[in-house]
Amino acid sequence: MNILLLGSGGRESALAWKMAQSPLLDKLFIAPGNGGTSQYGTNVAMSPLDFEAIDAFVTENGIDMIVAGNEDPLVAGLYDYFEDKPVKVCGPSKAGAALEGSKDFAKRFMQANGIPTARYRSFNASTLAEGKEFLASLNPPYVLKADGLAAGKGVLIIDSLEEAQKALEEMLAGMFGKSSATVVVEEFLSGIECSVFVLTDGEGGYRVLPVAKDYKRIGEGDTGLNTGGMGAVSPVIFADEEFMAKVDARIIKPTIKGLRDAGIVYRGFIFLGLINVGGEPMVIEYNVRMGDPETEAVMLRVDSDLVELLDAAASGALGDLELRHSPDPAVTVMMVSEGYPGSYPKGREITGLESVEESIPFHAGTAVDADGRLVTSGGRVISVSSTGKDIADALAKSYRSIEKIKFDGKYSRRDIGADLMALASKKN
Ligand SMILES: Nc1ncnc2c1ncn2[C@@H]1O[C@H](COP(=O)(O)OP(=O)(O)O)[C@@H](O)[C@H]1O
Ligand SMILES: [Mg+2]
Repeated sequence: MNILLLGSGGRESALAWKMAQSPLLDKLFIAPGNGGTSQYGTNVAMSPLDFEAIDAFVTENGIDMIVAGNEDPLVAGLYDYFEDKPVKVCGPSKAGAALEGSKDFAKRFMQANGIPTARYRSFNASTLAEGKEFLASLNPPYVLKADGLAAGKGVLIIDSLEEAQKALEEMLAGMFGKSSATVVVEEFLSGIECSVFVLTDGEGGYRVLPVAKDYKRIGEGDTGLNTGGMGAVSPVIFADEEFMAKVDARIIKPTIKGLRDAGIVYRGFIFLGLINVGGEPMVIEYNVRMGDPETEAVMLRVDSDLVELLDAAASGALGDLELRHSPDPAVTVMMVSEGYPGSYPKGREITGLESVEESIPFHAGTAVDADGRLVTSGGRVISVSSTGKDIADALAKSYRSIEKIKFDGKYSRRDIGADLMALASKKN
């Protein structure tokens, strides 16, 4: 089978690495890929949003399945564009991708299907006054979310009522362009978050992948600016059998049923951003693809053939196919460029990768320059993933590997997983 994987980050590196292990795979193409994905397949200089170019490529290269790594092409209607063409798409239809593309839609969907989530209301420019009143009825801190895609920057959490009301006004006036023409205002929930990934075939079949937790802030102790993600660990100690049974009954099953009841075609990954509120799972958000960097940890724990699973999901036929995974923990620690998530330099040479033995360095923001040197090309540069007998052991491997990988101005958080390890030692 020939596969075209869309995307260029650490997530796509991890998916490509896992797909490349499948005996079912003939050719793998990654568009556009990065400086490391050519280890697993062929990079193709093509935008994931250029459906016409993808169409021509699919025909020329006998592609059997397109897998979308990130949400943009799915929200733009990738599935629908190819629906009547002789290629499968692993991912939701445009209507399904609205679970991520519109936070207002996601909240309405959860409410309609009785899925636990924070109390909310949505506002637009004509209901600003009501929005300010609603804010005044809530307890601080106040959560304001741009309805549309905002590259992970569209959520504001504000302590003072006055500032929250001002922010609502500014968001509705275009702080995030069209994305904040509608704003979701919701109640603040306290708890620890985790990411649950479900692969569904759109016919009621689904499998749950290993649960992970990511670390979003740039600074240790989860301080400072938000990033695309600085690391991840799997499993998550509190996501035990009892918790996951609640997730299955209250969130996953009603989500799958709600999609089917609404006639929404959904064949691919559903990412549930959950928060554990005193032992009760609640949904913070849906995403319509795997998480980055959670994928760089989770793929190390998946024992089953990923190509077989994705093909079955895209074909509407998960049937009784097993998703086996290893009990051993996996972690990933992101190496980023100095200055990130603000402005950062590019083009710095990366060396030492060949001496990494205990970990898998998944390339994210890397490129090969005109002189054939491997250089930095993004804020998040390399996601260093390891497995171990426990989380501490896996982390020690990633940190030793990070010492060996060199580029000027490299930075990583040293406290990935520290909160979960503290929870674990309290439990024991
Ligand atoms: N209702 C809420 N209560 C507490 N924290 C929240 C709430 N909604 C969002 N957050 C925090 O903001 C982060 C980003 O919100 P999210 O809905 O995941 O949007 P996005 O990932 O699109 O930026 C969450 O991971 C969580 O830490
Ligand atoms: Mg999120």
